[in-house]
Amino acid sequence: MTTHKTQVAIVGAGPAGLLLGSLLHRAGIDNIIIERQSPEYVLSRIRAGILEQVSVDLLHEAGVGQGVSAGGIVHHSIDLVFQNTRHPIEVTQLTGGKVVTAYGQTEVTRDLMEQRSKLDLPSIYNVQDVDMHGIDSAHPSVSFRVSDTSSERQTIECDFIAGCDGFHGVARQHIPKSILREFERVYPFGWLGVLADVPPVSPHAIVYANSERGFALCSMRSMTRSRYYVQCPMTDQVSDWSDERFWDELKLRLDPELAEQMVTGPSIEKSIAPLRSYVAEPMRHGRLFLAGDACHIVPPTGAKGLNLAATDVKYLSQALIDYYRTQDSHGIDDYSAKCLKRIWKAERFSWWLTSLMHRFPDTEGFGQKIQEAELEYLVKSESLSRSLAENYVGLPLDF
Ligand code: APR
Ligand code: PHB
Repeated sequence: MTTHKTQVAIVGAGPAGLLLGSLLHRAGIDNIIIERQSPEYVLSRIRAGILEQVSVDLLHEAGVGQGVSAGGIVHHSIDLVFQNTRHPIEVTQLTGGKVVTAYGQTEVTRDLMEQRSKLDLPSIYNVQDVDMHGIDSAHPSVSFRVSDTSSERQTIECDFIAGCDGFHGVARQHIPKSILREFERVYPFGWLGVLADVPPVSPHAIVYANSERGFALCSMRSMTRSRYYVQCPMTDQVSDWSDERFWDELKLRLDPELAEQMVTGPSIEKSIAPLRSYVAEPMRHGRLFLAGDACHIVPPTGAKGLNLAATDVKYLSQALIDYYRTQDSHGIDDYSAKCLKRIWKAERFSWWLTSLMHRFPDTEGFGQKIQEAELEYLVKSESLSRSLAENYVGLPLDF
């Protein structure tokens, strides 16, 4: 049996695990990351791509800010479409100068992976049968097997374990059932997403569209690569949606001017994702910490998922750095409560924006009219517009 020793064992090499590994390394704290998938698989996942300034700042702090500086597209407004008309919400003006940046999660992950490999930091991919031991003790460990080499079990002995292994990971299951509380809402529809090498129809603003046919979203990854979504039933298969059907449906949900300007082309990725709100509390038990999707999921409306993962990691890295520097365990003790305050506000915001923008099968015509009334109120009322804007750019850290 191979035994590794480190200070922090990180389970999961998504953005949360990689960013944590990078911030800890910069503070001189050793860590090993284990990941169930291959690096290629991790990099093939396409997810949301809007960064709050706090996330951009954290990428700079981690030493991987060059990618977002060079390739990120800064936005000062978002557009809301309803009743076939587009209404700009000037988020920068409404928030005293704040912006959001379009930069894909895939690119964030790639930048962090490249940094980790340049620095020759230990990452073990293709692991399986991950188990955790002694999380109530001062000497926890993680054991696993590497699937494609041998069936020998390996162990990482460490001081702390960070469970950054996403919604389907194992870390959360190690918090005793008598302690863990779960809160969940599953929405009765999904998002069909398409990535295509076409110029974004609205390069200056992300477009969120409410239509009687269902929700649609226009986003981007660069000035030549676009990301679009339409709401669809979860019973749909990707094979039900030819590129032609997708583009036709997207255009029908936008205002005529945008539909007219839309440049279409072959999809390079197409997938259907469910929408879910989920929180597991607490985020720490003994020497195990949860961060990112391992303990909370938001529906993608408003793009809070990656940003929440980033702030969890900000708080967790700071807590561990304080602990190693001064033996001060306040940050460790406060970690869960501090994160959850922010998480529930983002849960509320993404639930609200989802409820406002989608067609719900159970409310049909009535629901549509109420949404349109609220949207009209929102775009006319400066205080409601400001509320949307300040949540969209990200509430201040200790709000
Ligand atoms: N052992 C090791 N790794 C695991 C295990 C396991 N048992 N189970 C899952 N993983 C890996 C997954 O393969 C994945 O690469 O953990 C990683 C978790 O990464 P993400 O799902 O990307 O979650 P996170 O890093 O928290 O990032 C949050 O992802 O889903 C989006 O909206 C979300 O943008 C947000 C971001
Ligand atoms: C994306 O670019 O993929 C995106 C943008 C905004 C969202 C969700 C997803 O609210």
